[in-house]
Amino acid sequence: MSEPTNTTTSTTAAPIATIASLSHHEGQIVTLRGWLYNLRASGKLLFPIFRDGTGTIQGIVPKAAVPEEVFNTLKELTLESSLTVTGKVRADSRAPSGYELDVENVEILQRVPEETPFPITLKEHGVDFLMEHRHLWLRTPRQSAILRVRATIMRAAAEYFDINGFIRTDPPILTPNACEGTSELFEMDYFDDDKAYLTQSGQLYVEATALALGKVYSFGPTFRAEKSKTRRHLTEFWMVEPEVAFLELDGLLDLAEAYITHIVTTVLAHHRADLKVIGKDITKLEAVIASETLTTTATTNHAVILSEGPEQAAGESNGTESKDPEGTRPATTDQNLSANKFPRLSYDEAHAMLEKAYAEGKIEAPHKYGDDFGSPDETYISSQFSKPVMIHRYPAAIKAFYMQPDPQDPSKALCVDVLAPEGYGEIIGGSQRVDSYDLLKQRIEDHNLPLAAFQWYLDLRKYGSVPHAGFGMGIERVVAWICGLDHVRETIPFARTLNRIYP
Ligand code: 4AD
Ligand code: MG
Repeated sequence: MSEPTNTTTSTTAAPIATIASLSHHEGQIVTLRGWLYNLRASGKLLFPIFRDGTGTIQGIVPKAAVPEEVFNTLKELTLESSLTVTGKVRADSRAPSGYELDVENVEILQRVPEETPFPITLKEHGVDFLMEHRHLWLRTPRQSAILRVRATIMRAAAEYFDINGFIRTDPPILTPNACEGTSELFEMDYFDDDKAYLTQSGQLYVEATALALGKVYSFGPTFRAEKSKTRRHLTEFWMVEPEVAFLELDGLLDLAEAYITHIVTTVLAHHRADLKVIGKDITKLEAVIASETLTTTATTNHAVILSEGPEQAAGESNGTESKDPEGTRPATTDQNLSANKFPRLSYDEAHAMLEKAYAEGKIEAPHKYGDDFGSPDETYISSQFSKPVMIHRYPAAIKAFYMQPDPQDPSKALCVDVLAPEGYGEIIGGSQRVDSYDLLKQRIEDHNLPLAAFQWYLDLRKYGSVPHAGFGMGIERVVAWICGLDHVRETIPFARTLNRIYP
């Protein structure tokens, strides 16, 4: 990950550089602005490690080679003191960043007092302690690497839709009604007599914008007042939600597959070093995207949808094809949709797989037909494949009110849950939506939802209803999977969970 070099000069007149851009400065004297991350002394040699947000680099400070004042300042320097350091960039193949810095000068901006040392050290700390100091924990290399990968996941998540002609339409965060069940709502007073709820999902609103604009998506924070303490649940998380008019379940599965492929491809293109710092086995991610690509003559439902419409021409005339100096253009577009390689199982097939696994003693508890899959069930199913698994057609009774029934078997919903590999659980939930006015009204009543609050939503079935479908993907679940983290609390800068709202 390189970036343009800042040409501003410091007092020492050496160009200011970032650690990530040092490959452009080999053999030159540069000034870095950052913090002291670690310090090792060995007789008349000091090995300070500096960090600047873009990476870390080891400095070499031989007593004989620098002014005495510089040596003494660094020798006594406390961790996380802020500074500027000037030195010569030297390539070193053994260094993690590939470079070392022969320090010539250092200027301290703020010295951390001895009496109040930086609380996070290289020794092991408990999770509670680290979460209590999350504002400082973020500075450590692994946490910084996770946030860089997260940022790329979010960029790729939006980019896929932007490139493929989806219009971003952001729904409100304050809503008058529930989308995903009334027991998980954060409620607040809304002026005089009204109540408002923090949104659980933008879906109902993107259904409206999809019927206005065709292909849309939303991307924003969503909230669930879930009293669950699992390693996959946050009370505030980021969800990206595409919604497409005239799209049915099969096309939705194609879309989800191409989408995940694009995100993993982008992360692998930019973050191999970060994934190594985090400790993720990269071969597991490579397996996800390993597949032949379709030729342009191949047409899945989704490929047809993507290649139609004026938005493609608009994209070309904007010159989006040619401008890509940093390799930021998506690796996966409609031109090279991955072939249908993610396994697709119906709920019934997944249930049968679990029954067999139970009979063979591979899972501890039997799966009861009709119930949702528990975490051990999902882990077992995903362990059978190297790619994400798409489970479709769950019993309608355990799914949301807005899901279209399967015409072949109306007790099933035309829905999909995508399970990440390696037991990371559900990352995507989506469905085709009920498009009949009467059926939707019936569903709202059956679920004891307040009809008045949903009148506008019913209107969508009154004025030119069409089949349509969409899904929601939770960013933090994807970060947990791609980075290989056992808990979602490390996937977001400041996690909000059942028992934490500080810092
Ligand atoms: O499966 P969910 O509840 O689906 C919906 O909200 C639909 N309305 C989306 C749609 O069709 N437009 O949530 C979608 C995804 C899940 O698959 C999961 O990745 C994530 O959102 N998610 C959570 N992530 C973190 N913490 C939680 N409490 C989450 N709940 C859901
Ligand atoms: Mg779900």
